[in-house]
Amino acid sequence: MRLREAWARSRRQLERASIPDADIEAQVLLRNTLGIDRATFHASLDRELSDEDAEAFERSVQRRIEGEPLSYITGHREFYGLDFVVTPDVLVPRQETELLVEAVLEYARSRGGDEDAISIADIGTGSGCVAVALGAHMSNATVYATDVSEGALCVAGENVRRHGLDGRVRLRHGDLFEALDGPVDVVVSNPPYLSEEEAVDLPLDVQREPRVALVAGSDGMDVLLRLIVGAREYVKPGGLLALEIDPRRVEAVERLARGTFPGGEIGVIKAHAGLER
Ligand SMILES: C[S@@+](CC[C@H](N)C(=O)[O-])C[C@H]1O[C@@H](n2cnc3c(N)ncnc32)[C@H](O)[C@@H]1O
Repeated sequence: MRLREAWARSRRQLERASIPDADIEAQVLLRNTLGIDRATFHASLDRELSDEDAEAFERSVQRRIEGEPLSYITGHREFYGLDFVVTPDVLVPRQETELLVEAVLEYARSRGGDEDAISIADIGTGSGCVAVALGAHMSNATVYATDVSEGALCVAGENVRRHGLDGRVRLRHGDLFEALDGPVDVVVSNPPYLSEEEAVDLPLDVQREPRVALVAGSDGMDVLLRLIVGAREYVKPGGLLALEIDPRRVEAVERLARGTFPGGEIGVIKAHAGLER
């Protein structure tokens, strides 16, 4: 079978399984099987697939149909223009989380850019995508990347090394702020924020992601509440607390933030809340 036929066939299989973006996902799985980039793929559409490659490709398509996230199958995900190793121990980095990185970079620019050292804590670092993106773009930053999951920290460690950021991004194990030595200029977090009820009907691939990365108590506020209250102690005066939140929690989070930081500047960007004090 030629590549173009294998691509078309798998696209139809993924469409039948109601996988969104079936065309792109089929291509990504085929390129991943063959270890080729997009340009080579398009130049090779008439190439014959070996039996071995055809079998490996079919196995990966079946895994996807059974609900495994695409990035767990390929082992990679792009975030903020950088390539990240991803395993079932971590949440798959989402494109919308790039806004959190933007918010911190914008804040750092407003402080005068690269001149002064800046300390950042990425709480619940998962794959390390936010911490690594910030470390890669801010040569003056020390980023403490914390998580309760040892498995996640292993993956984050691999990503820190791959991007040559040992020393600038420091991994710490612990609950929220527990692993920090003291207050920092910026606390950034994409915490678990779904309620137990919301977690019942998640798409199959999201259900495969770690529950500790997704669910935060009966109202989804458990971790957010502790983050906001703890930020009083762990964000330096004039610093930034930048949080990704569910759009359904905006009002509750704003109310909590106003109560916790009276006189603080509070902003909401799309699905993300940034709290400044
Ligand atoms: C939604 S994921 C975000 C991962 C990554 N920052 C990203 O944006 O892709 C939340 C992460 O928080 C971690 N986590 C959950 N509860 C935590 C806690 N109490 N303290 C520290 N990390 C926690 C989870 O293990 C998970 O890696």
